[in-house]
Amino acid sequence: MAVGLLVKNIGLLATPTGSSARRGAQQGEITLLQDAYVAMNPKGNILAVGTGPVPPELAEAEEVLDARKSLVTPGLVDAHTHLVFGGWREHELALKLHGVPYLDILAQGGGILSTVRMTRAASQEELAEKAGEALAAMLALGTTSCEAKSGYGLNWETERKQLLAVQELNRRQPVELTPTFLGAHALPEEYRDNRQEYVRLVCQEMIPQVAEEKLARFCDVFCETGVFTAEETEQILTAGLRHGLKAKVHADEIDPIGGSQLAGRLPAISAEHLICTPDAGIASMAEGGTVAVLLPATSFYLDKAFARARDMMAAGVPVAVATDFNPGSCPCLSLHTAMNLACYKYRMTPEEVLTAVTLNGAAAIGRAGEIGSLEPGKQGDLVIWNAPNLDFIFYRFGDNLVRQVVKKGRRVVG
Ligand code: NIG
Ligand code: FE
Repeated sequence: MAVGLLVKNIGLLATPTGSSARRGAQQGEITLLQDAYVAMNPKGNILAVGTGPVPPELAEAEEVLDARKSLVTPGLVDAHTHLVFGGWREHELALKLHGVPYLDILAQGGGILSTVRMTRAASQEELAEKAGEALAAMLALGTTSCEAKSGYGLNWETERKQLLAVQELNRRQPVELTPTFLGAHALPEEYRDNRQEYVRLVCQEMIPQVAEEKLARFCDVFCETGVFTAEETEQILTAGLRHGLKAKVHADEIDPIGGSQLAGRLPAISAEHLICTPDAGIASMAEGGTVAVLLPATSFYLDKAFARARDMMAAGVPVAVATDFNPGSCPCLSLHTAMNLACYKYRMTPEEVLTAVTLNGAAAIGRAGEIGSLEPGKQGDLVIWNAPNLDFIFYRFGDNLVRQVVKKGRRVVG
């Protein structure tokens, strides 16, 4: 049997199992193997996961990695990022410290709209280079796959430029990106008095073009007070579905205006943020099988409440945890930081959070069949941690505990 990479001498291998989102009690039921190994074929897919001595037919690998008795998990999947953008927004820090609310900054033409101006002014190559730097940092922190939303163009030319930058990044660096079209991220200033026309443009011109050029797999909307109403969100997501773009929704981030109820009803593949989700939203997502993508670093950064993760899990909603990396509400690209916060602030167990940042993250981006767990047939994406067990990486925070990263059977970090 041809073996490309063998990872041996694993102290503890921790992984969820399966090819779909885990919900309820299953979210915390992970496989823990002591004294384990993982063998991958030369194409980078997993051939075998086992314990004890490595069988002779797997031992002759092209490359062998010694995990030195450490923890190994699947590569982390960051299911919600706004990866591609021009500039930063450090000038908002002082406003925030003076208590100016996030939506007020946006209403005054700042926030998302100031990033729109900087993104429109940047070239595709400048955007790709900047996002590439962020991806290198994410990879060093253990993220091997991530979602990337557009939404800082709010016109066709720039939305397309962002999505083309994502395509380009998929060619030039190892973190696999799944693109989402978020043309309805804010109302552009030039449509301030003509919102219906912008919704029409998104539905009738941008979405068909995104589908035609295969620029994205998903369509997302920021359903929020002062941004898009639940009715507009439904109109846009329905147009996306008609063109084969699965639905995602930024729901209940600041105000509960019906986004989570809509997500379950459509159903959307995921609803994201969910900081102030009402019982009816949780029930609707459970009914629709919608993955709740929770973003605890955004709650921290906006100084908001933390999502009702335990209530969602109790209701049978699969929970994923992601960074929301963006220049405004969460300029943090460390999924490890989000994991720490999820454990402490959502009161999720390390096992539940591990599922949230691997298999359930993969399910939220439609990739649970290929990534998110360490099992034969799945892609060989894994992290070797400077940690002896799973609790350790939740107990420590603020340091990068990643020692080595393997992507599709190739060592890409360490
Ligand atoms: O997920 N809520 C909308 N979008 C982002 C923030 C984007 C920004 O502030 O630039 C979010 O929080
Ligand atoms: Fe977001």
